Formats: sequence, structure tokens, C-alpha cells
Amino acid sequence: MPGRLIVVSNRIPTEGASAGGLAVALHDSLRERGGIWIGAHPDDGPEEGLFEIGSEPYQRLAFRLSRAEYDSYYLGFSNSVLWPLCHRRSDLVQLRPDYAEGYVATNRRLAEMIATVAEPEDQIWVHDYHLLPLASDLRDLGLDNKIGLFLHIPFPALADLSILPDPPAFALWLASFDLLGLQTRADTARCLEMFRSDPRAEFFQDGSVKFGDRLVRVKSFPIGIAVDAFRSLAETSDSDPFGGERPQEYIIGVDRLDYTKGLPHRFRAFGEYLQRYAGTRRPCLVQVAPPSREVVEAYRQITEELEELSGRINGQHAELDWTPIRYIHRPIARNRLAGVYRGARACMVTSLADGMNLVAKEFVVAQDPDDPGVLILSRFAGAAEDMTDALLINPYDVGDIAQAIDRALNMPLHERRERHRACMAAVEATDVGTWTTQYLAALDACAGTLSVPTLLDRLQKRQDRSASAKDPEVSFISR
Ligand code: ADP
Ligand code: G6P
Repeated sequence: MPGRLIVVSNRIPTEGASAGGLAVALHDSLRERGGIWIGAHPDDGPEEGLFEIGSEPYQRLAFRLSRAEYDSYYLGFSNSVLWPLCHRRSDLVQLRPDYAEGYVATNRRLAEMIATVAEPEDQIWVHDYHLLPLASDLRDLGLDNKIGLFLHIPFPALADLSILPDPPAFALWLASFDLLGLQTRADTARCLEMFRSDPRAEFFQDGSVKFGDRLVRVKSFPIGIAVDAFRSLAETSDSDPFGGERPQEYIIGVDRLDYTKGLPHRFRAFGEYLQRYAGTRRPCLVQVAPPSREVVEAYRQITEELEELSGRINGQHAELDWTPIRYIHRPIARNRLAGVYRGARACMVTSLADGMNLVAKEFVVAQDPDDPGVLILSRFAGAAEDMTDALLINPYDVGDIAQAIDRALNMPLHERRERHRACMAAVEATDVGTWTTQYLAALDACAGTLSVPTLLDRLQKRQDRSASAKDPEVSFISR
């Protein structure tokens, strides 16, 4: 009998939490295959062990983080070391021994809890940067299951990795997974570069890395959204999500309030657009930016900066019947959000670094194909790797963004339709259902733990087969 799927993430869907694309897709996979979702409960629960927070149609098991774990593992190493490091903001990295210790200890405690529920045939699918040591911890506890990681954020550059307290441990953590799933081909290249620089690693042409007695596969699986579900949400959404206060012409921005999203650059660019290009036109920038990780100093600073900037730009340009920037500092319901996307003439994604950016995909899917809005997309968002027909911008160049706003608002209908059609094809190709199926199939196909003699034996056989078929499927690459 095939094993269950065990999904592990720091965040777990809880009552009342909105079901994003990822939650919906994983929910469907879990329902079909049966299984368990394990994650940290944001509020409360017993201090020790896993506790059930829902069992229909699959099991949801939560654990509670102590105050010290929350500070060191979540706010500390995850969000004040790994997050800035992976998003090219090494200047914001806070290196503190207690952060690293808390991160390692929390992952170890979680591994011990997982070991109490995992059966030998179960597949374990770990999500994101909070849980990088988890496979290594589970291996130490004797688990030989197939364990995959999907990293939702950018893979760091080799030079940035050397900032970590123990860079060799980082490679060892990752090599303990069977499959490393990354967002883009560029992420895969950076991950392989890390292994290439490590004397413990050897390479195969199919992208597998032999590391000690383990074989790890590295591959990109660009994540998407639940296309059909989001499209019907947009089509059936409230035609007036602004409750009578709909701006005549608006550009939409939707982001967690995070310093990686390039929000100050976006506001400045909109100010420059108003100054240089708008003439008598009075478009509005509707920016929805709910607070995120507010106790971390860098997040506090960006909040203040944006309030100051929006106040200044509105002060310069507003009139009695027009507020240029509508800045909404809270989340909005998904069905309303879909309607807000649909009514927008353009969407601005100005990330300075971003794993994928699902907002870009949501905006495209929500459009009316006969009269679509234009996506202005940072070339540093993972989404730009495949959505090359968006208006790609350099988010560091405020003048470039201002010009793109002007171009988007004046773009002829035929060009809008063509660009939308091409972006839509890219979004459909990465539907989150396909993403889940492809990832799990790849994890299934992984070789798993191999003793070195067995591994070499298997590779020799594969090479012999390839040679006889005149198809060099796999071979050692000399270092
Ligand atoms: P990140 O994962 O860095 O937050 P993404 O763009 O990949 O960025 O995903 C953000 C998700 O959160 C999207 O599904 C988006 O719709 C949702 N979201 C972001 N801001 C809001 C908001 N203000 N209200 C509702 N949903 C939001
Ligand atoms: C990004 C990360 C996720 C994280 C989310 C919200 O999407 O990749 O792992 O859950 O941001 O951040 P939070 O810290 O609130 O969980």
C-alpha cells in the first residue's frame, strides 16, 4: 500500500485563514492521497507534542512554539537571517548565536514529533526556509523516507551564503533531502553552484548531486495558482468591491508589507509618473499592503517610510476629488481582491527579489481577456522567468517604472490582448495542481538513501544501458 503524504510547513491553514492557491492545491492532494499536514499553530495549544486541529478530509496536526522559539527560530534565524540573506539584503542580516541555536533546536524538536507519526512508506514534503535542517534531523533519527523540500523564496548566491555562521552545515542540511524543488532555473543554477563549490559533492548530468552516501536531485518547479478557481472568483466577484468609491482609473498593488517588494520605489515611481507624464489624467494607485512580521526592526522601518512617502506624494498632487495613492494597510477578502484586480488598468509588481510572486499570476487570471489590464513586472521576481510578455521593469530604476506606467495606461487594445494571452499561457502552464503532481512524481522517482557501493553499482548499470542505447542518460561530470 502506498504511503501517506506528510506536508510540513511553518504556517498551517487554521480556522478562518484564507485558502491561498498553495493551501488549496495541497489540500486537494492530501484529500486524494490521504495524509497529514503539520505546522506551527499561530495562537495557542498544548506546550508539548502535536495536537489535532482538524481531521476532515485529512489530518491537520499543529505544534506550539514557545516564546523563546518564536523569537529565535521564527523572528530570529528564519526572518532576520535567512529571509534577508536569500533576498540579497545581507545588510539586514542579524547574526546572533541564540538565533542559530534556537533554529537548530526547534527543527530538532519538530523532527522528533514528526518521527512519532511518520510510517516508513510515507512521503514527507517540507516547505520553505524555516525548516532547512529538518531532513538531516529526521535522518539522524533513523528515518529513511523520501523527503522533499520546496523553497518558496530565492536560492541565495554563493557569496551571500558565506555570511552564515556555518556555511558547510547549510549544504549538508540540503543534501539530506531527496529532492530540492526551487522556483526558477536561476535558483537551480545557484543551488548547483553551491554544491559545485563543496568538495563533498559529485555531479551527474541529470542534475543529481551525490553527497556522502546520499543522492539529491535539484530541479525547478515554478509554483502557480489555482487558475480555474481564481478565474471564476474574478468573474463572479462583486462588480463594485469599492462600495461606491471606485476610482475611475486605477493601478493595483497587493503585497505583504515587506522590504523585498520595492514599495518605496513603486510609490516614488508613481510620483514621478504624475509629475512627468500624467498631464490632466488622474489615475489612482490602490496599494493593499497588510502588515507582516512587524516586530522585526526592518519591517517597522519600511512601514514608517511608506506612510511618510504616501503622505508626501498625496500632499503634492491630491485635489478635493482625487487622492492619488490609496494606501490600505490591511488584508482584504479573496473574492473582493479578485474583483479589485479585474477592475484595474494595470498591476505593479516591483519586487527587488522574489521567489515567484503569485500576485502577478492572480492579476493576469482575473482579467477580462477582451479588455485586459497590463502587468508591470519586476525582472527580479521569479514570475518574470516565464512571463516575458509582461512589461518587464528594473525596480531599482524609478524612471523606468514611471515610463512603464505611462506605457501601460496608453497601451492599445490589440497589444494588451496579445500580451495578456501570452502571460495567461505561462500562468496556465504552472497551475498549482500541475505543480503539486509534478513535484510529487519527481519525489517518487528519487533514488532515496543508497550505500555508496549500491549507488555506484546502479549508476554503472544506468551508464551501461545508456551507452548501449547511444543515449548518455547519466554520467559523472569531472569536477
Ligand atoms: P509572498 O509569498 O512574498 O507574500 P506572493 O505574491 O507570492 O508573495 O503571495 C502573496 C499572497 O498573499 C497572494 O496570494 C496574495 O493574493 C495574498 N495577499 C497579499 N496581500 C494581500 C492582501 N492585502 N489581502 C489579501 N491577500 C493578500
Ligand atoms: C512568504 C514565505 C512563506 C510565509 C509567507 C508569510 O510567502 O515564503 O513561508 O508563510 O511569506 O509570512 P509569515 O512570516 O507571515 O508566515
